Formats: sequence, structure tokens, C-alpha cells
Amino acid sequence: MKVLVVGGGGREHAIARALSRSSGTILFSLMARKNPGIAALATDILLERETNVPSVVKYATTRGVDYVVIGPEAPLDAGVVDHLEKEGIPCIGPVYAAARLETDKAFCREMMSRYGISGCPLYRVFQNSQDAEEFIRSYDGDLAIKPIGLTGGKGVRIMGEHLDRDGAVGYVRSLGGKVVLEERLIGEEFTLQAFVDGKHIIPMPLVQDHKRAYEGDLGPNTGGMGSYSMADHSLPFVTRDDREKAEAIMRDAVLAMKQAGFPYRGILYGQFMNTSAGPVVIEFNARFGDPEAMNVLSLLESDFATIVEKMVTGNLSPSDVRFAAKATVCKYLVPEGYPDTPQAGQEVRVRDSGKAILYYANIEEREGKLYSLTSRTLAFVGIGDTLGEAEQVAEEAASSVQGNVRHRRDIGTREMLEKKVARMKELR
Ligand code: AMP
Ligand code: GLY
Repeated sequence: MKVLVVGGGGREHAIARALSRSSGTILFSLMARKNPGIAALATDILLERETNVPSVVKYATTRGVDYVVIGPEAPLDAGVVDHLEKEGIPCIGPVYAAARLETDKAFCREMMSRYGISGCPLYRVFQNSQDAEEFIRSYDGDLAIKPIGLTGGKGVRIMGEHLDRDGAVGYVRSLGGKVVLEERLIGEEFTLQAFVDGKHIIPMPLVQDHKRAYEGDLGPNTGGMGSYSMADHSLPFVTRDDREKAEAIMRDAVLAMKQAGFPYRGILYGQFMNTSAGPVVIEFNARFGDPEAMNVLSLLESDFATIVEKMVTGNLSPSDVRFAAKATVCKYLVPEGYPDTPQAGQEVRVRDSGKAILYYANIEEREGKLYSLTSRTLAFVGIGDTLGEAEQVAEEAASSVQGNVRHRRDIGTREMLEKKVARMKELR
């Protein structure tokens, strides 16, 4: 079976690795920049912008691929799935109209309200700056400010965290007023990803990502500095009831998309804030999370290529999807100064990964040496029977890297986890 993976980051390296463990899979890769990890697994690669739809379609058809797995959101937003499927090549990833669940934050909230999906925060959509500014000035409380379109996870600003009221007004003005304003939610975040075949949704282990650049969850938002998951596939601050509610929200979202005429096939990613009133949707993504893909795919025991095949035919069942009952910790190394002033172009030396799995991300290989670029560089995933074991494996590997890169030491540590559990207890 020939599978093309579109995208060249850590997430796509994890997808490629999971696919290449299936015997009989021949892997192709289309990515903007050569990811050395993916290149080593693929039979053939094409270096090309992932949003260049004609090139993606041409590559997939000339190589005769059976399926295409789309990693990032930008090609979904460019309609690459619509064009591939027109050529008879099924994809893991929704068509343009269905991907709006991620790519258009106003569409997402309007779907949730129209279909009465629970877990929707109070929100308002604005198209001009004057109305949005007036709303901010008159609102009693803090707001989350979200640009309507894609921002690579870095466009959201929270009043009371990143901005005061005047700052919020200025930010909205700089965005031309095209924003969704939402009540600021207080709680602990978690990620629930699911395989969706159009009808069925099969959930994956819960993961917690760390968006903030610095230890203690301080500093600017990033694409995600690292993430962890627990051996029981839940999180200690998420009750069974919270989890069931989150899964029901995802099921309702998929059903609503079908009823609205935009059937959804692909990975559905739910980012939830666990509040004192239960889980509320921060956002949906139409793809795996990065880094969250590295946690769950490193644990996947069943055959990923079979899952892909069954998703495409709409026949996926829970027995097709099995994850090891282990904990994972993923730590990203990023260039010093990331995300605001990244110091790119420095040599990065990986000395000893130990038992950790190494996933390459935004890194360049020249004459056998590796150099950082401006985005997240590479990641390690540790796996263990306990979170502590997994953390140790990831931490030892991450701290063995030499070069002008850094990582968050606190991700997956007991201290961090205890703080989150205590915080949630206080909220309830
Ligand atoms: P997003 O790009 O929607 O994932 O938002 C980025 C980050 O902003 C999230 O991971 C949250 O930490 C935060 N955020 C988004 N929406 C809200 C909200 N309504 N209340 C509080 N924090 C939020
Ligand atoms: N880890 C957050 C995301 O992939 O959007």
C-alpha cells in the first residue's frame, strides 16, 4: 500500500514512523523542507510547499499512491483534500468545507450554537474594529481574543494574562476587527484526539500540551513546548464524567457536520478547558496536534495503515485501535529566543537519545550536520510504566543535546502534575 504523508514537522515524522511500522507500506513524503527523519523512512520525497495544491495532486497521481495523510492545517485550508479526492485518491483529513471547524473560528462557534453542542463558551463574532472595541470596553470581565483565521496557534491573546483592556483594544484594532471574542475560561487544559471515519469516532488517550514558552507556564504562547499522557489514558484532573462529556461533544460535532452537509473524515482534535462546570471547547483542530501526535502515535500498537484503510471506507471500529497502557512524555527542543526572536542556524548535536524516540521537526541537515531553524527543532518522547519513568527518559535525552537550543524541564514532572491536580481541586 502506497501512502503519501504531507508535511515535514515533528507530527509528520510521528505519522511517518507509525505508518512505516506496517509491513507492506511504501511511504512517500511531500514537505516544504527536508525533515531528515521522514526522509530516512520514505521511499521517495518531494520538496514542495504543502499548500501548492496542483503539485501535491500531481505528485500523488504520478506516484500512484493509494492514500494521502495530511499533517498540518494549511493544506486543508487550501482545499488539497477536495482536489485529491476528485482524482480518486482518498485522504485522512477533511475537505475544505469540513476543515472550517478549525480554520474558521467563527464557523466553529456558529456550528456549536446552531446544533446545540454543549461545551460552547459565551462568544461573539466581529467583523469590524469599532464594534469589537466597544464590546471590550463595555464587557465586565476578561476576554479571549481570537483572530478568525489560522495563526499557527499563536494568535490568541487572553485579557488578564497577556493584555489589559487597553491592550486588548489595540490588539483587536491591529487585526482589523475580524475577531471572535469569548469569555475567558479558567481551568486545566487537555487534548482529546479521535480517528473519525465519517460516522464513527474512536478516541485516543488524553494528552496535555504546554503552550507557554517557559517553565511554570510563563511567557508567550508557542506551537507547544511538550506534552504528556498517562498509562491509564486519562489525566488525574479529568474525571470519568469529564471525559465522557468531552467525547460526547466530539461525537455531536461530527454528527452536526454530517447533518450540515460537511461530513468529516480525518483526525478530530478537541482542545478542552476543564472548568468547574466541566469541559468547555477551546477549539477544534482538523488534524493531529503537534506535539500531541508524538505522544499517542508512539503508543499505537495496532496497525496504522489498517486504521487508515478502514477510516477511508467508513468501517473503523474500536477493536481496530489499541494503544499501549504506558505513560509518555514529549519534550521539544527549540532555538534560544523562540518564539519571538529565535536564534536560528546554529549547529545542534544529538549525543545520546537513550531509550527516547527522536522526532525531527524544523531542522536542516547539511554535510552530515544538523542546524536549527526558526521554529521548533526536534523532540524526544520517553515511554514508561509511570509518568516519572517516561519523564526521565525524555529529560535525559533532551538535556544531552548540545547547541543553542533549550527545552522545558518541568513538563511531565511530578511537581507540575501535583500543581495541576491541586488547582483543579480548588476550582471544583
Ligand atoms: P487556540 O489557538 O484557540 O488553541 O488558543 C491558544 C491558547 O489560548 C489555548 O491553548 C488556551 O490556553 C488559550 N485560550 C483560548 N481560548 C481561551 C478562552 N476562551 N479562555 C481562556 N483561555 C483560552
Ligand atoms: N499542540 C497544539 C496544536 O497542535 O494545535
